[in-house]
Amino acid sequence: MKDAVQSPQLPGPQCRDYQARRNAAVALGVANGPPVFAARAAGATLTDLDGNTFIDFAGGIGTLNVGHAHPEVVAAVQAQAERYLHTCFNIVMYPEYIELAEALVALVPGAWPKKAMLQTTGAEAVENAVKVARRATGRQAVVAFENAFHGRTYMALSLTAKAPAYKSGFGPFAPEVYRAPFPVGYRSGLSEAECAEAAFKAFRRLVETEITPEQVAAVIIEPIQGEGGFHAAPPAFLQALRAYCTQHGIVLIADEIQSGFCRSGEWFATQHAGIEADLYTLAKSMGGGLPIAALVGRADLMDAPGVGGLGGTYGGNPLACAAALATIGVMRREDYAARARDVGARVRERFAAWADRFGIVGDVRGLGAMVAFEVVRGGGSDEPAGDLAARIVQSAYQGGLVLVKAGFHGNVIRFLAPLSITDEELARGLEILEGAVADAQRQADGKVAAGARSA
Ligand SMILES: Cc1ncc(COP(=O)(O)O)c(C=O)c1O
Repeated sequence: MKDAVQSPQLPGPQCRDYQARRNAAVALGVANGPPVFAARAAGATLTDLDGNTFIDFAGGIGTLNVGHAHPEVVAAVQAQAERYLHTCFNIVMYPEYIELAEALVALVPGAWPKKAMLQTTGAEAVENAVKVARRATGRQAVVAFENAFHGRTYMALSLTAKAPAYKSGFGPFAPEVYRAPFPVGYRSGLSEAECAEAAFKAFRRLVETEITPEQVAAVIIEPIQGEGGFHAAPPAFLQALRAYCTQHGIVLIADEIQSGFCRSGEWFATQHAGIEADLYTLAKSMGGGLPIAALVGRADLMDAPGVGGLGGTYGGNPLACAAALATIGVMRREDYAARARDVGARVRERFAAWADRFGIVGDVRGLGAMVAFEVVRGGGSDEPAGDLAARIVQSAYQGGLVLVKAGFHGNVIRFLAPLSITDEELARGLEILEGAVADAQRQADGKVAAGARSA
């Protein structure tokens, strides 16, 4: 690996130039991290326009479990591009769509007959999940959870919880969306079992006092919240939801757009709880870098909308299908779920050591290689410290590491590196991150003059 940058001159001239052009030509609302403009990327590293190399712990927000530009994915896309680019599956069908649907139906948990449909983005998969659930049940209400992120189109955004950042000024939102508390252990003072029980009671109270179970079409949950800050739902909570939904004919939708495709140490995070959702929304790492999403689940539900009720011009585009088939092949052959457990164990061990050493590192949590730590004020306070997390991201960037934050307060540093990351890259990335955490700790301690850097 070419050594990651360690340059006080970042951004370089070309990236500075593009940053100015970005500011002039691209809408403010499209958020960005530090000014890294990619020239090339492979595996777990990125090289910017000025030739600086970065280790990537963000992986396109969990899109690149097989790594940037995996050679088998690139070859599959190239081969497909030589045959045809697009026909629109609704008009002219092609084998890759069918083969991918078959692969997904076989992969997704659930002992029942299953079917799939393909879309382009995660939000679209969520939109279709709600359409299918409503049509199949003839009911309208949808229950989502606090802290949820399900996307930015109107139904998905209505289900998303983080209002100040994502919803402010965009209303009105879709009706018949209800919100229950997500079982978050940190700061609650409750054991995992107590937390699961309290959250399930609150869920039941909401359904039974504000809606009635007979009106609920679907419950949608991220088994591990992504944008919300890597909170894993306790297995007991998911099991209780599963039983309740079965009892009342409610469609349980698992949004595995971020947690799926081996990230959690299983192919799908619901497997940790031993439950099977009725419908799964999938996207991100399924495409190995190409935009593709899927709704997969019980055939009786999937077949509820009539002919023409589902579809879209680009859903399951042939290039994206070819990329997804190649991606799934790599993950299967190289046992990416095991790789996620191995990588995740090493990252978690390191984060846990930092929690002992640095007062600003609060809770360490997640499953498999979907791990994160909370940045807090420290000195005995667990108050979220978004400013210190921002400083960690900035000084990691100066050290040659790309990071992504999460959480309502933007104070969670999440690990979403490609699972193809080499041991050397992982060690170097963690070293840079440790330097950035130490720097933020000094800032918190008031020992460092503003603006000083260390790695
Ligand atoms: C859990 C979850 N659901 C839905 C989405 C929306 O996916 P997309 O951005 O592809 O629309 C995301 C994206 O971050 C996500 O993490």
